[in-house]
Amino acid sequence: MARYRDRKATGSSGSGLYNLRPLSTVKHSIPEARWPSAEEASKSRVFSPGSLGEVRTESRTWVPAMVPWRCTEEGFVTPEVLDWYGRLADGRPGVLVVEATGIRDVPSGPLMRAGHERFIPGLTELVELVRARSGGETRLIIQLIDFLTIRRRPEEEQWIRRFLKLEPRHHEAARALGHEPADDDALRELLLSLDHETLLSLLNEREREDLQMGYRERVNDLQLPHIQELPAVLPGLFADAAARAEAAGFDGVELHYAHAYTMASFLSAKNNRDDGYGGSPAARARLPLEVFHAVRDRVGPSLAVGCRFLGDEVIGGGGRIEDACYYGVAFAEAGMDFLSVSKGGKFEDAKQPKVGAASYPYTGESGHECMPTVRIEGDAPFGRNLSLPRAIRDAVRGAGHETPVVAAGGLNDFDIMERALSAGACDFVAAARQSLADPDWWAKLRAGRGKEVNRCLYTNYCEALDQRHLQVTCQLWDRDLGAAGSSELLSPDGKRRLSAPPWKP
Ligand SMILES: Cc1cc2nc3c(=O)[nH]c(=O)nc-3n(C[C@H](O)[C@H](O)[C@H](O)COP(=O)(O)O)c2cc1C
Ligand code: SF4
Repeated sequence: MARYRDRKATGSSGSGLYNLRPLSTVKHSIPEARWPSAEEASKSRVFSPGSLGEVRTESRTWVPAMVPWRCTEEGFVTPEVLDWYGRLADGRPGVLVVEATGIRDVPSGPLMRAGHERFIPGLTELVELVRARSGGETRLIIQLIDFLTIRRRPEEEQWIRRFLKLEPRHHEAARALGHEPADDDALRELLLSLDHETLLSLLNEREREDLQMGYRERVNDLQLPHIQELPAVLPGLFADAAARAEAAGFDGVELHYAHAYTMASFLSAKNNRDDGYGGSPAARARLPLEVFHAVRDRVGPSLAVGCRFLGDEVIGGGGRIEDACYYGVAFAEAGMDFLSVSKGGKFEDAKQPKVGAASYPYTGESGHECMPTVRIEGDAPFGRNLSLPRAIRDAVRGAGHETPVVAAGGLNDFDIMERALSAGACDFVAAARQSLADPDWWAKLRAGRGKEVNRCLYTNYCEALDQRHLQVTCQLWDRDLGAAGSSELLSPDGKRRLSAPPWKP
């Protein structure tokens, strides 16, 4: 899930040692897969029933949230959104998670929204479509997100003239360089005349980052009243949005506590708020738990409520698996119905954006770990992150809870998923890009027709579209674009299919 144009996301400052590692020059190949017969699939763990609280699932297969950028600018469901989820439902995964959906009633670009009652009819249509297309087999969960403001990287001159708040320390620094600006205007002119490196030497760390990366709010910015008030407002906002999801007929909600967004920033080891919501792991988990309780109290027991959170932040000074195990146990103890584990995806190690572009949290090492490609250093991307859900699940089981744990990251063939389940690494297997590449792949596996699976190449063409805020598609869908029927949905330039080509079961 990408940036939200000039708007939102959060984290804290500082880059880590992680972003120093380049992408590998070695390309991992996609291993040959052994596909099961229909009989083997029917007896497998992958296709055995599961449960998320009171919600029963037909199988342990899961399509995690993916933002396809297909809503209206106002955040309403469109025919293209329906097409996207309808196509994913054709494969009948046990669980399908709808993209990160904004809980506030504020402009957020083409991000799906649940911040007002007016969004309920569109969401209801979506639920009904998925039920129909999956023959009632797929349980539908919506991911709920909050995010903070992020702005594009500014022009240096514009930033100095409009955004830099001058303080006595800037005058002092100028004097130390032998200048004596008479007033703030003269100081701004002086700053404009300096070479880039000298200018940077006059700024503090936060100002340097604002200039070089673009302004970004953090949960640590307690000097900002709306940031200070987050613990007071977020439980109600999440609860209201969850109630709307319930009214629309969803089977569950996934609280987005992962990646670069508000709730993940509360959980982050970099959260140093001193108001009881930062510092120790218990204080960092306080708001996420309060949000969960507010949601649980608002909705009925038949709605599954869980969260997605990070097994490892993958940034210098960020939380590691020990923190995640602590959170997993705390969430299980609180009564969450599932724990979905992701990795990385942070702003702290993101690459510098071009002037006029916003920072994107999947461009650094933590982003590469979140959506590993065949060019990643070390182990191949396939099942690369399984040690995280396994450790969290062990901790949760050790504390006496049966809360199901969901694993993701390069899960691309039957054996890898079956092994992960039988080895106790997880209770559900989530595949994002493989399901995007071939939404029918679950149905093909079940039917013993695995040889027909179009296998994801893990090169992240789709993610590059996400980054540029273009409607997300898969490069594999366009292999025979010339043969596409005129009724097929194409991108505005006519060069990309907006939907996977049909497959006849
Ligand atoms: C285009 C795209 C959009 C994504 N959007 C979200 C999102 O909205 N929320 C989320 O938690 N993860 C999001 N992800 C991450 C995936 O859910 C998943 O964790 C990641 O791709 C690794 O799984 P995979 O190897 O099966 O693709 C997105 C991934 C892609 C490729
Ligand atoms: S675009 Fe590439 S990485 Fe994305 S789903 Fe398709 S094959 Fe996989």
